[in-house]
Amino acid sequence: MSGWLDGDVALITGGGSGIGRAVAERFVAEGAAVTVLGRDEEQLRDVVRSLPDPSRAHMAVADVRDPAGLHAAVSETVERFGRLDTLVANAGIWDYQRQLTRLTAGEIDAAFDELFSINVKGYLLSAEAAWRELVKTRGSIVMTLSNSSFYVNGGGPLYTASKHACLGLMRELAYELAPKVRVNGVACGGMRTDLRGPESLALQDRSIEASFGKRRDDAAPPPIPLHDSSTDPHDFTGPYVLLAARDQSGPITGQAISVDGGIGVRGFARPAGGDHL
Ligand SMILES: NC(=O)c1ccc[n+]([C@@H]2O[C@H](COP(=O)([O-])OP(=O)(O)OC[C@H]3O[C@@H](n4cnc5c(N)ncnc54)[C@H](O)[C@@H]3O)[C@@H](O)[C@H]2O)c1
Repeated sequence: MSGWLDGDVALITGGGSGIGRAVAERFVAEGAAVTVLGRDEEQLRDVVRSLPDPSRAHMAVADVRDPAGLHAAVSETVERFGRLDTLVANAGIWDYQRQLTRLTAGEIDAAFDELFSINVKGYLLSAEAAWRELVKTRGSIVMTLSNSSFYVNGGGPLYTASKHACLGLMRELAYELAPKVRVNGVACGGMRTDLRGPESLALQDRSIEASFGKRRDDAAPPPIPLHDSSTDPHDFTGPYVLLAARDQSGPITGQAISVDGGIGVRGFARPAGGDHL
């Protein structure tokens, strides 16, 4: 590991599973201390226990829709580790690609409020709770964005709109918090995680992991240029380290790094141009 985050302190929302947990593990391996925040106490306890040095990890049970819980998590982090260098705004839910024509008006009414309040308001409230401490350390915010921040059909209208909104939020906060605090994003492609759906669509117990079927040898390759691109969240953590490390990315703010197997350079006739090579 690089030690790029030696002595740094990070708060990671949704750190109990998926990419948030993988980032927590990677940040500790890079020398940081972390607070993992989430709704599921047992999950968070497991993350802390499993780290090589549990004394460099703290857990905060909170919902990202609750400003008091977020402020308490920031205070506890600073009390325990003395500072806050990085906020990783990450907790989110998915809409299981539920398209407009498969949603009733009532479902849209309820699911929009639930999904946007976690995916978008949760990021903004986390930033509100953290910015004062980040100003003190000239720290940064790294947001988990998505291929759905740029392209269609990674979600339905609710998720795609929420992740486009997060891209706008990242850019606006990068302007507002400069020059003291940098704000960037990592736009992840499909990952095998425990990503859940909204309670209001009765999708809270469904996990995206189940959507990744076992690939057959004769199946068409995934429709992205890097067909063999990993879906293991651990392979998506490098850009988070880069963007959090002030010595490595000091002049970068307001940017999203896409980690999606090349969706933006997908071809019309064939996703990849070099299959014959
Ligand atoms: N899995 C993918 O394919 C994928 C692709 C692109 C982007 N993302 C994004 O990655 C982020 C993390 O999701 P993941 O895929 O690791 O799924 P995940 O479910 O494994 O992790 C999300 C974590 O957030 C927590 N959480 C959910 N709602 C919360 C709330 N209201 N308050 C506090 N914690 C809450 C969950 O308990 C969970 O621990 C999300 O923003 C998601 O949109 C995921």
